[in-house]
Amino acid sequence: MAYIIAVAGKGGTGKTTLTGLLVDYLTRVGKKPVLVVDADANSNLNEVLGVKVDYTLGDLREKIANADFDTEDPIPASMSKQDYLDAYFGRTLIEEDDYDLIVMGRTQGKGCYCFVNDLLQGRIRKYVDSYRYLIVDNEAGMEHISRGTLPAIDMVILVSDCSRRGIQAAARIQELVNELALKPSAMKLIVNRAPDGVLDPGTAEEIEFQGFDFAGIVPADPLVYAFDCEGKPTIQLPVDSSARIAFEEILSRIIV
Ligand SMILES: Nc1ncnc2c1ncn2[C@@H]1O[C@H](COP(=O)(O)OP(=O)(O)OP(=O)(O)O)[C@@H](O)[C@H]1O
Ligand SMILES: [Mg+2]
Repeated sequence: MAYIIAVAGKGGTGKTTLTGLLVDYLTRVGKKPVLVVDADANSNLNEVLGVKVDYTLGDLREKIANADFDTEDPIPASMSKQDYLDAYFGRTLIEEDDYDLIVMGRTQGKGCYCFVNDLLQGRIRKYVDSYRYLIVDNEAGMEHISRGTLPAIDMVILVSDCSRRGIQAAARIQELVNELALKPSAMKLIVNRAPDGVLDPGTAEEIEFQGFDFAGIVPADPLVYAFDCEGKPTIQLPVDSSARIAFEEILSRIIV
């Protein structure tokens, strides 16, 4: 069974950036095979990884949920929805050399999604067994995890900005995770984009106050931002990028 790591945090804190670097780290140190799940409806992890996405789980879910109204390209009468899902699930898997990627995609629509989500759940659980790590990039609400589409988590990496209010927001997400009874065996806080990699004493005090398991700081790195603006995959950052060095040092401590 794969070791499952979910990356969570409020909007724009750097979840997707760090998820990409995490995947790159795991594959480089030989902790593979890795399955990466982009569980953000407004997904862009593929940009960070430099991968093209043609077909998402959302597309498949939509197709099955709306099958009864689809006259143009109906599911063949000889096929059950389960058969169709089994036949087409592989199309949602983007295979790279060192990892595979599944994009959950958007979720809204008029069809019956509970049914499809149940089908998906079973399929994903079967898949997970063939990987050593499953890495999930979440949206702040952790929708797929809270709905149980994805299996139980081993570690949550909470990403926060370096402000006191950012830490308070991370504490609320930590609370949400606890309320969902997800019971990850580890929940680590990482502060991202700290100027010069230094924590303000006020922020440090709040981290202490909230009782976080604090894993470390990733500095604000102009290269990360520059790569993003130029449309270059983050995982192509040079090895001496300050964000990359700091994050990998943290990972070497928290990931066994
Ligand atoms: N350490 C860093 N130094 C500089 N810029 C960073 C750093 N980490 C992330 N960024 C930049 O911050 C922005 C937000 O990052 P990212 O998209 O990873 O956040 P997110 O939490 O996934 O956002 P969303 O909630 O929208 O999914 C991006 O422009 C990214 O390039
Ligand atoms: Mg993101």
